[in-house]
Amino acid sequence: MLTAETIAATRAAVAAARTEGKRIGFVPTMGSLHEGHLRLVDEARRHAAFVVMSIFVNPLQFAPTEDLARYPRDPDGDAAKAAGRGVDLLFMPGVGEMYPREMRAEVIPCALHRRWEGAVRPGHFAGVLTVVAKLLNIVQPDIAVFGQKDVQQATLVRAMVEDLAIPTTIVVAPTTREEDGLAMSSRNSYLSRDERRRALALSRSLFAMRDSFARGERRADALLTAGRKVLDDEPTIAIDYLALADGMTLEPVETAEKGTVAMIAARVGKTRLIDNLILGA
Ligand code: PAF
Repeated sequence: MLTAETIAATRAAVAAARTEGKRIGFVPTMGSLHEGHLRLVDEARRHAAFVVMSIFVNPLQFAPTEDLARYPRDPDGDAAKAAGRGVDLLFMPGVGEMYPREMRAEVIPCALHRRWEGAVRPGHFAGVLTVVAKLLNIVQPDIAVFGQKDVQQATLVRAMVEDLAIPTTIVVAPTTREEDGLAMSSRNSYLSRDERRRALALSRSLFAMRDSFARGERRADALLTAGRKVLDDEPTIAIDYLALADGMTLEPVETAEKGTVAMIAARVGKTRLIDNLILGA
């Protein structure tokens, strides 16, 4: 595996792969890699002969009150995992390489950014889109893979790529779950054993909605009631939202259909977790 810490070295390595006629796949991450990230690498490999991964904990997408300082970091472990999964080039820039000065331009997300995660984390998606645009400009991949777990991020990235005519195809890969259903997330490492147990209420509430949908229920309020019933059994977790949204626009729906997204965000102790499921998938 090649590694690069600078934009210039990354561009040179990608250019060399292109000269060999290879398609370029890209997996942007913030590190602290788990099986979910590594499946994104597998997905990139299905589309591209040269797979680039970036690891950069992007300060622009964290509010001052959020967990930037304590966000889990494990560069050596991450490099070993990336190499073990066949990443060809690992780009691990420092903050000084990505943001040598205060940014003088940034990407403004479409109105969707004000809902769901954006309502709780103002400025978050402008920071995400700005770094994703910059990373896509550095790597210039044919395809880039994002996880379904961050469904709003994936939707906003797709919209940006279309609207700004960025020549990269966005691929969204399914969420990887632990055996008991918990969606994999770097933030799961914050959870105590008891919080980890309580966090299962998130996926269980989504599964209850999925099961109710499978039995034929289509009314959003009835489906949400099924989900809330599960959450009522775990009153120690604080729900930010439990919602049913259109799979394309993420606008709330009154009637669910195949492709509708059931979404949840909640705090378990000090840790904020998100999860979602596509109904009828
Ligand atoms: O999903 C993430 O890990 C981040 O938001 C991303 C896409 C790498 C941008 O910093």
